[in-house]
Amino acid sequence: MAIDFELNGKSVSLDADPAMPLLWAIREIAGLTGTKYGCGKGLCGSCTVHVDGQPVRSCVLPVSAAVGTKITTIEGLSTDGNHPVQVAWRDLNVAQCGYCQPGQIMTAVGLLARIPNPTDADIDQAMSGNICRCGTYTRIRKAIHRAAEDKS
Ligand code: FES
Ligand code: FES
Repeated sequence: MAIDFELNGKSVSLDADPAMPLLWAIREIAGLTGTKYGCGKGLCGSCTVHVDGQPVRSCVLPVSAAVGTKITTIEGLSTDGNHPVQVAWRDLNVAQCGYCQPGQIMTAVGLLARIPNPTDADIDQAMSGNICRCGTYTRIRKAIHRAAEDKS
């Protein structure tokens, strides 16, 4: 079945089972592998993408729910990797193994869209569903503050 939506600013029509998780449609059909599979149960946040600007867990969203929406993945956040959140992440060397980081960044961008200058508590609450096995939480918090300062 043709599933039509906007992916990183471009109209796409994916031939997919409507029940396929959006994560697999993005990775296996659209070929964008920046979004990562972690738990597959909506529990770790590594698969986070934006649907109409809201962070969602793409592993538990059927691709049929994407019809007519605007999806943004880590690849579409900026054309050159210089979104303020990406710059802050690089400046503070946030990533360790890196596996969780696309999801962390997508969630952080969603937070800053809602709350331009978040407190530590705002950050901890917004990021609590994004798990990092490497324990980069302290640097993530600092980088979100840095990105907020750069944007203001
Ligand atoms: S892979 Fe989607 S929340 Fe873990
Ligand atoms: S940087 Fe390794 S899991 Fe987060």
